[in-house]
Amino acid sequence: MASDSLLAQLDGLNEQQLRRLLVEHLTKQKLGLYWEANAIERDAALNADIVLPRLVEDWSCNLDAAPTRNLVIEGDNFDGLRLLRATHRGKIRVIYIDPPYNTGNKDWVYNDRYVGANDRWRHSQWLEFLYRRLMLARDLLTPDGVILVSINDENRARLELLMDEVFPGMRVGSLVWKKRKSSNTSLDYHYSSDHEHVLIYAGPGFVFNGSSKTWDGYQNWDEDKQNWWSSGPLTLGFTKDQRPNLFYPLRNPATDIWYPCDPKRVWVYASKTRLGDKKVRTRPMEEMIEHNLVNFPDEPTPAFYASEAELRTALESGLAPPYLDTSSDLLFWVGKKIAFGRPRFKRFKDTLVNESMPLSSWCVDLADPKEGGEISVVQITSGRTSEGTMLLRELGMAEDFPYSKPLSLIKNLLQQTTRSNDIVLDFFAGSGTTGQAVLELNAEDGGGRSFILCSSTEVTAKEPDKNLCRDVCAERMRRVIAGYGGKPGYTPEQGGQFAYLQLDKVDAADAHVEIDESHAFQLLALKRFGAALPVPDGTIKRLGRVADCEVLLCGKADATTLKTLAAWPEKYGAARLAIYTTRPETLRDKLAARGIEVNCYSLMDALTGGQGGAT
Ligand SMILES: C[S@@+](CC[C@H](N)C(=O)[O-])C[C@H]1O[C@@H](n2cnc3c(N)ncnc32)[C@H](O)[C@@H]1O
Repeated sequence: MASDSLLAQLDGLNEQQLRRLLVEHLTKQKLGLYWEANAIERDAALNADIVLPRLVEDWSCNLDAAPTRNLVIEGDNFDGLRLLRATHRGKIRVIYIDPPYNTGNKDWVYNDRYVGANDRWRHSQWLEFLYRRLMLARDLLTPDGVILVSINDENRARLELLMDEVFPGMRVGSLVWKKRKSSNTSLDYHYSSDHEHVLIYAGPGFVFNGSSKTWDGYQNWDEDKQNWWSSGPLTLGFTKDQRPNLFYPLRNPATDIWYPCDPKRVWVYASKTRLGDKKVRTRPMEEMIEHNLVNFPDEPTPAFYASEAELRTALESGLAPPYLDTSSDLLFWVGKKIAFGRPRFKRFKDTLVNESMPLSSWCVDLADPKEGGEISVVQITSGRTSEGTMLLRELGMAEDFPYSKPLSLIKNLLQQTTRSNDIVLDFFAGSGTTGQAVLELNAEDGGGRSFILCSSTEVTAKEPDKNLCRDVCAERMRRVIAGYGGKPGYTPEQGGQFAYLQLDKVDAADAHVEIDESHAFQLLALKRFGAALPVPDGTIKRLGRVADCEVLLCGKADATTLKTLAAWPEKYGAARLAIYTTRPETLRDKLAARGIEVNCYSLMDALTGGQGGAT
């Protein structure tokens, strides 16, 4: 137990140290979440070993074509994340995770056993488990990176406080999506919980993509504002009885022409003159007109009635302008110029960025703002959980994985958060929905995003041979890439490939004997190029090229090897060589003696650097 080791530590303190510790403990007020990290059974996955990737070619896909940035990493994600911290630190722009929800309902494995509802330390175990992994994940994000985390309603508050602790000051907000259509009849619920949350935390430079901006509608030039504009309706979906303040005749001060209000769709803005002292939240119509934000159509021949009788005749014959309210004082319109057209709201191009940010929920305002004309919004839409189930059925894998996320949800989240060449990481990948979303999104918008999926095997004492990562996550990606249900699939050029990596762990003290060349090659390929590829034969292994520099891994530096290296720059048209090797100084000197200047790096430093262990 962790509390035993804590007690042992305290045994070593003298009285004064103990007193100081007690005062510190009693006076320290912690704002935020508390969980019993010291009381719970240690997470067996925590370790300080060096994690090394081993490529499994047989379980990879289309790897012979070219190095790939798409990775499927098998193993506990604590190890997966430590590997990535060495290879992808600060390089991942978007992380999406859907961790086990801690329902107590056999939804997550901790130290090879499921954590049940009656487990005394259930919440603390779950929080500590996530805390350790989120702390590693934090280091992977680019400065403008974003992490999106799915969670159910029950655990949302706990997770949000944990996220605040790990990502201080980075909270963007949360989204809500509807996971089912019908109500849940389970007696455990006081109400039918049909929604889930996506918590969003991001670095300072992050912005949502907003709507894809087409400027087609912005074809009107405004000389005063020196800007292009398009128009939208100036009315709202309320009747005159629902919003009496917004129902009034509108006058264009420039032409003295009047516009009757549609009793079924009132104006968006109230009128200052009609409101008197009454306060409203939005700007009054008069101000909108003054700021040139209302477009009155040309009215070369407005209607004009010199008497009430004349007006009544026009109304009866259907020739009067629309929306003239016959129930009110008709005399108001006598002697006024009355419009046939409708004024519209002017939306200027330079204001579109702010207007096109996504809404935070699927709850659409009753007076749908898109109709309102003032704001243009982007809604992130999503299918329900059943969409994920049906998709796995279509892929022939319905029995293999319950409750995958709807593809449309992940795709739309990524569409709002990724740029075209981003790396997207999901370290609770499950059935691999995120990988499919990345491929589909690329196909739709021509992007070159790549995916990294980490998945556990879900091995337990009862199912020692289970391999969820290989048989569900990677298998799904294979089927998606091959094409299914009449869909064409993806070529390697379209991102239709991935490297399957298993993780080997080596004690740092034994690293020099236990790390073999294939480990070293893969780790260096990931570190230097963010890509995996089959390990080539030969003593000199080419990792890739940066500008005019060839990057190589070199084992034994015998006479043949030195000769090959000396001829390398000319053979491959390179100006420089960068070589990872066990004895960098020796190799550099030997090549210098042959008149070749190279940069040599310590292989061991490159392999052991950047991972940091768990304590
Ligand atoms: C809720 S599911 C994710 C489902 C996924 N979003 C989908 O659409 O298929 C959570 C996944 O996390 C995996 N998992 C749990 N603990 C893990 C760990 N320590 N390392 C890696 N994966 C883990 C579980 O095996 C499970 O497949």
